Amino acid sequence: MVIMINKIDETTEYIRQCMGSRPVPEIGIILGSGLGLLADRIQDQLVIPYGGIPNFKRSTAEGHKGNLILGTLGGKPVVAMQGRFHFYEGYTMQEVTFPVRVMFRLGVKILFVSNAAGAVNPEYRVGDLMVISDHINLLPNPLIGPNMEEFGPRFPDMTTVYSKRIRQLAVEEAEKMGERLRMGVYVAGTGPTYETPAEYKFYKTIGGDAAGMSTIPEVIVARHCGMEIFGMSVITNQSNDLSDTCLNSGEDVVKQANLAAEKMTTLFERVITRL
Ligand code: HPA
Repeated sequence: MVIMINKIDETTEYIRQCMGSRPVPEIGIILGSGLGLLADRIQDQLVIPYGGIPNFKRSTAEGHKGNLILGTLGGKPVVAMQGRFHFYEGYTMQEVTFPVRVMFRLGVKILFVSNAAGAVNPEYRVGDLMVISDHINLLPNPLIGPNMEEFGPRFPDMTTVYSKRIRQLAVEEAEKMGERLRMGVYVAGTGPTYETPAEYKFYKTIGGDAAGMSTIPEVIVARHCGMEIFGMSVITNQSNDLSDTCLNSGEDVVKQANLAAEKMTTLFERVITRL
């Protein structure tokens, strides 16, 4: 555990040195599959490829570029991850969530997370944006192991994970944009397989609205260290549990995410402006 904290500090120090006299980013953003477009809207950019950051892993997933980008968005200093690490890539949960702890040490207080997800709720359509109101975690919990007291408590509360305040701002801004906004429960499994029809049905039965393979690990670690959290899923595929046809492919998911990235980006920018 001491080794882990030393690594977090080493990485934080490296990023601080790259930042020079730039302001401390109070908002962290994690961009999911095909959603890297938001990075283009960040002004006054400092781009640090993951490959150059000590202790950072490489982003191997489709639609994930692998850059850490500092700058301003909506007039606020931000740090954005253009591409994340997934458990299905073979990384440990500590490695998947490592950047969130680095963000915390840098001074991040609010975390925006995004992902591409499959519709579990039969009313959802491809291209819909879903604000995450809650989640169901079917991945290993990233806080298993000795508790890192410097970051948070042994048993973090999980009743108010997704900020009501920011969700409300998103609802207001989406209305102004004329965009339909869903609000629902995100369920994540390990992947990399998409769900079988029976698994989609199971997700629906247990209360899920959208299915994915990410986000929850980072959210748990962010919650552990007391960050305010806003999460959004872009619905990239239907998950018709009655269909015999093959519905899902990685390329299609990235393609659909790219198509919806524009409106998600605008929404994030507008919400951040109001924080
Ligand atoms: N299931 C899991 N993860 C996903 C999906 C899905 O249907 N779509 C995009 N990511």
